[in-house]
Amino acid sequence: MKGQILVTGGTGYIGSHTAVELHNAGYEVILVDNLSNSTIEVVDNVAHLIGKRPHFEQVDCLDYAAMDALFTKYTGIRAVIHFAAFKAVGESVDQPLKYYRNNLISLINLLELMPKHGVKGLVFSSSCTVYGQPDVLPVTEDAPVKHAESPYGNTKQINEEIIYDTVRSGAPIRAILLRYFNPIGAHPSALIGELPNGVPQNLIPYLTQTAIGIRECLNVFGDDYHTPDGSCIRDFINVVDLAKAHVVAIERQLADKQSEPVEVFNVGTGRGLSVLELIQAFERATGVPLNYKIVGRRAGDIEQVWANPDKANKVLGWQAETSIDDTLRSAWNWQLNLRERGIQ
Ligand code: UD1
Repeated sequence: MKGQILVTGGTGYIGSHTAVELHNAGYEVILVDNLSNSTIEVVDNVAHLIGKRPHFEQVDCLDYAAMDALFTKYTGIRAVIHFAAFKAVGESVDQPLKYYRNNLISLINLLELMPKHGVKGLVFSSSCTVYGQPDVLPVTEDAPVKHAESPYGNTKQINEEIIYDTVRSGAPIRAILLRYFNPIGAHPSALIGELPNGVPQNLIPYLTQTAIGIRECLNVFGDDYHTPDGSCIRDFINVVDLAKAHVVAIERQLADKQSEPVEVFNVGTGRGLSVLELIQAFERATGVPLNYKIVGRRAGDIEQVWANPDKANKVLGWQAETSIDDTLRSAWNWQLNLRERGIQ
């Protein structure tokens, strides 16, 4: 065993996949989650996948005393991966303070507690949202951070700044900021995946819920963008590939290989796919026809963004491996599994 990794938001979509990959790489995971947007069954399913029950603590990262107690309880924590955050863009516009309180204070608590308990390594979930609409595509890590389109996006930008300022102040912390593009898909076992609350806001859960008949029709938001087919372009990254990027980031920290105290990496495939191309790919990969229609643009959407992942390829030795067809099949199998289990 290579030591313990604390995973906040550990029962969430990306956290649960990362827990499995950390275990596969020889780490002991401690999952922390307040279950505000996930369920305890995720722990059972992770246990099933890794062949043992992971440590799980139902704790809110906003609760400083409870987090302090957790660091005291687990003496072998070598690094923290901080996923716990609210992430619904639209909701953040309606309830900004909820987003600022949750997404900022939880990080601040961690940055105070880590040095207190002698934990140096932090991997932080950031987002390509910090680039806004980039001037140059594919976007590299040194592209300027643009004015945030939503309070959610702003929390990611501010969190990056909080980490930089804390490290600059001399705090004994080494951080890796992973800027995710659009994570999609599910574990190939179909035991863990994305479980949105209520009506999905993101493309893939809405798409698979439409394909299975929960929703009548997928609305494609806009076909008049300056892109080849008029729909928006995104870089869709497989969630297991994304999870593996966290493992290599942890390996780098624990081997003391960081060249800067804060390092930033794009985590994407390097390939842009339009919303309409993604729909075609889904129909091709699964053989399931999809009912969709073009509607007006969605406020706040970026026209097109995809990653230049060269830095992660070279420095972390990481690259996206899963094909879009396999990824879309995994998303579909997850939706079928939810139906079988009577969840959705
Ligand atoms: C957004 C955030 C991203 C965040 C992610 C997860 C921005 C710029 N991006 O990504 O940081 O990590 O949500 O919460 O804030 N679409 C449809 N029909 C639908 C749903 C989506 O056509 O029913 C289209 C959208 O217009 C967009 C694409 O699909 O062009 C992807 O949308 P979505 O899955 O919501 O992700 P982003 O908005 O790219």
